[in-house]
Amino acid sequence: MPGRYCLTACAGIRLAREEDFEGIMRIENACFPGELAYSRAQMRYLVFKSRSVTLVEVSGGAMRGYISMLCRRNSEMACLETIGVLPRYRSQGVGRRLLEAAEKIMISKGAERFRLEVSAGNKAAISMYRKAGYSITETLPEFYIYDHNGTRTAYRMEK
Ligand SMILES: CC(C)(COP(=O)(O)OP(=O)(O)OC[C@H]1O[C@@H](n2cnc3c(N)ncnc32)[C@H](O)[C@@H]1OP(=O)(O)O)[C@@H](O)C(=O)NCCC(=O)NCCS
Repeated sequence: MPGRYCLTACAGIRLAREEDFEGIMRIENACFPGELAYSRAQMRYLVFKSRSVTLVEVSGGAMRGYISMLCRRNSEMACLETIGVLPRYRSQGVGRRLLEAAEKIMISKGAERFRLEVSAGNKAAISMYRKAGYSITETLPEFYIYDHNGTRTAYRMEK
């Protein structure tokens, strides 16, 4: 329920609704080619059925990005499941603002720590997470089934 969380400082960012699903899938497929993308069923589960918080960023009628963060029951750890910004809207602060907004909501739900996994070859995302206060805590060889950014290795990052 959008009113439950304070998103007033995050212009254009709101909780995902049913009618956002096609837009979310469009961004997912633009960000993660082929087998790297979540399937429709996986995404539907993540966005509408799991304990995730999914936010979309909308500007001038265009959905530019989304983020989904999950908080497991009885856990103070929130996990970033996926984040994506359409290529033509990148480097404009959309990703950073989505991350900040999702963290804020998770903190209001009791999260005290954050965790994510990112491809070791994903320079843009690693830089964004570092700037947001995350540090690499583990290197996970063969974390991915398929190459992401030219490698199957992931970094686990936490803050
Ligand atoms: C990662 C991603 C979400 C960043 O979104 P974005 O809206 O372009 O990011 P922002 O404009 O908010 O930038 C935030 C920070 O990210 C880093 N960054 C963003 N693009 C970058 C690039 N091309 N190269 C290096 N660093 C970059 C910078 O540190 C930037 O901070 P700065 O603006 O102070 O320099 C976006 O590149 C994307 O959708 N990538 C494909 C999907 C993906 O890889 N998701 C992450 C999976 S773990």
